Amino acid sequence: MMRVRFPSPARFESRPLDRKPDGRYNLPRRHLLILPPSVESLLATYPRPVLIAQISDCHIRDHDSAFGRLVDTTETLSRVVDHLSALDPAPDVVLATGDLTDDGTPPQYAVLREKLAPIAEKVVPLPGNHDEGPAFRLAFADLLPGDLAADHCSYVIDHFPVRLVGLDTTLPGRHDGRFDPAREEWLNQTLSVDDRPTVVFTHFPPFETGLKFMDQGGVADADRLRATIERHPQVRLLVAGHLHRPVQTTIGATLVSICPSTGNQLNLDLHPQHAAAVNEPPGFQLHRWDGERFVTHTGTVREPSTVRTIDLGHFAAKVRHQYEAGEPFRK
Ligand SMILES: [Fe+2]
Ligand SMILES: [Fe+2]
Repeated sequence: MMRVRFPSPARFESRPLDRKPDGRYNLPRRHLLILPPSVESLLATYPRPVLIAQISDCHIRDHDSAFGRLVDTTETLSRVVDHLSALDPAPDVVLATGDLTDDGTPPQYAVLREKLAPIAEKVVPLPGNHDEGPAFRLAFADLLPGDLAADHCSYVIDHFPVRLVGLDTTLPGRHDGRFDPAREEWLNQTLSVDDRPTVVFTHFPPFETGLKFMDQGGVADADRLRATIERHPQVRLLVAGHLHRPVQTTIGATLVSICPSTGNQLNLDLHPQHAAAVNEPPGFQLHRWDGERFVTHTGTVREPSTVRTIDLGHFAAKVRHQYEAGEPFRK
């Protein structure tokens, strides 16, 4: 079957959200781009699953620290980016869900952009609590909509059969977050104008994970965020970062997934007084939409010298032959 590549987001302008004089959002009934007819026909007959890669908590740093001695986050990000670049089929888009730098300084963003260069046209960035709003917006000016709200960097990508809704709950100068009334209204209105299958991507996970010290420094008003998601069941997937571990749960009928860090992970220890960072391998997630459901994969990218594999190509060919011939899979 002929494979049709879907255009990358960088080839279209992000859709602006109009605002009324009173500051409320003036959203059209359908939140669609006006696309050339040939592209519209591609949308109507999208021939293969949508692959949404996710990276998070890259924490690019340029100073000596215990974290820096545990994991060289610049090297591990490069490793993950190389891995994503080599995937076949390639991801259509790469969500980057915050804490992309450790301190939010321009030099750290310069290193980040350099390391993301091989996948730059697919990156959809959102800030985390370690980012700094103005420097983040400047660093990603070419990838962000031009009309972001002044107080949060939330926006919509409408280029795919599934909508991508980025929700920024970070606060300037703070390591915790808020789902305040302005963000609640933005999300509610954004989700009310289109009932296509939707992914909400955000930094802080809106639920208790059991990692106590991370839960206590998370997003306030998480219950209202969960209630908003439950009111819009077309949100088939909500993805977050911040936890530096792969974690899954549900909110109503919505699959919720936290992506591991591309740098260090947090140790899986639910004792309420324990907390440790650990050099478990850098990771990423791949969310596959097949038109019916999302399936989330978690990948790790170890140092090449430690990786051992067995080529299963012959076995896969045999399975394929039996499958296509309708033969039973005997032991
Ligand atoms: Fe982080
Ligand atoms: Fe964070």
